[in-house]
Amino acid sequence: MKGIILAGGTGTRLYPLTKVMTKQLQPIYDKPMIYYPLSLLMLCGIKEILIISTEQDLPNFKNLLGDGRHLGVKFDYVVQDSPRGIADAFILGEEFLSGSPSMLILGDNLFYGDYSPFRQAIKKQVSDFKEKKSSAHVFAYAVSDPGRYGVVEFDSETRRVLSIEEKPKKPKSSYAIPGLYLFDETVSQRARHQAPSPRGELEITDLMATYLNEGTLKVETINRGMAWLDTGTPKSLLEAWSFIAALEERQGLKVACLEEIALRMNFIDKNGLTQIIESIPKGPYQHYLINVLQEARSGQEVRDAIF
Ligand code: G1P
Repeated sequence: MKGIILAGGTGTRLYPLTKVMTKQLQPIYDKPMIYYPLSLLMLCGIKEILIISTEQDLPNFKNLLGDGRHLGVKFDYVVQDSPRGIADAFILGEEFLSGSPSMLILGDNLFYGDYSPFRQAIKKQVSDFKEKKSSAHVFAYAVSDPGRYGVVEFDSETRRVLSIEEKPKKPKSSYAIPGLYLFDETVSQRARHQAPSPRGELEITDLMATYLNEGTLKVETINRGMAWLDTGTPKSLLEAWSFIAALEERQGLKVACLEEIALRMNFIDKNGLTQIIESIPKGPYQHYLINVLQEARSGQEVRDAIF
């Protein structure tokens, strides 16, 4: 299973914040936004990750994250030269995927909670791949403003998926589809054959519809215990910021601390973390990592820091 983070787009709703710095590098409290979706992929055990962004912004992502070796993972990068839609990520990522199933997460989607539904979905996707069964797996999350998202309509009795619509004027349900998608190895080929929508984009909803029509799309409802935040407007950015700040301050633990996750997931060992600590500036973030290392060295039961 390989991962893709799509961090393109123009972030127009955040202008002028995004004039010189792309949306997915804006801070959410104490970390750049991309740390949050990236941490989800890492916590799901995904170690090969493609980051897609614009020509202007990609160098900044490379400066921030490097090749991933220090975290025991591998980052690849590719440019999306115009906003051609989410499904375009699978055309740009075709070579990187080289026939592997994938999990795509949008660089501005933030999930906090028990990630086991995502891990289960990966297991299922991998077992379908081994059995050569075509499949795709997405999620549904009830929101108060579904019209801003891809919306899924279920049959009220059978829970069968009836339709999927992108930003409908009259949503047929309150279930939005978050920006986290699992697809089989045929996805790039499907995206290549897809026609652009009236707004000129390869819509992710149209890509999902190809699986829906074949009866191979699984839509799983995420329960309200999971927080799903998006960060496209100044207000939602502030809400995400406050949410993370409140959690971190209360618990004394960091959300989406990539170095800590790399250690807890055994992607790196204590020496690896020591090297990172020595290479970053003194300050609260380094101090936090020193505590993580000390805790690991003392063999103390790891606090329930991650999911
Ligand atoms: C995109 C997708 C939409 C999905 C949303 C999740 O919308 O097109 O289907 O529900 O991401 O964040 P946009 O990025 O245009 O808001």
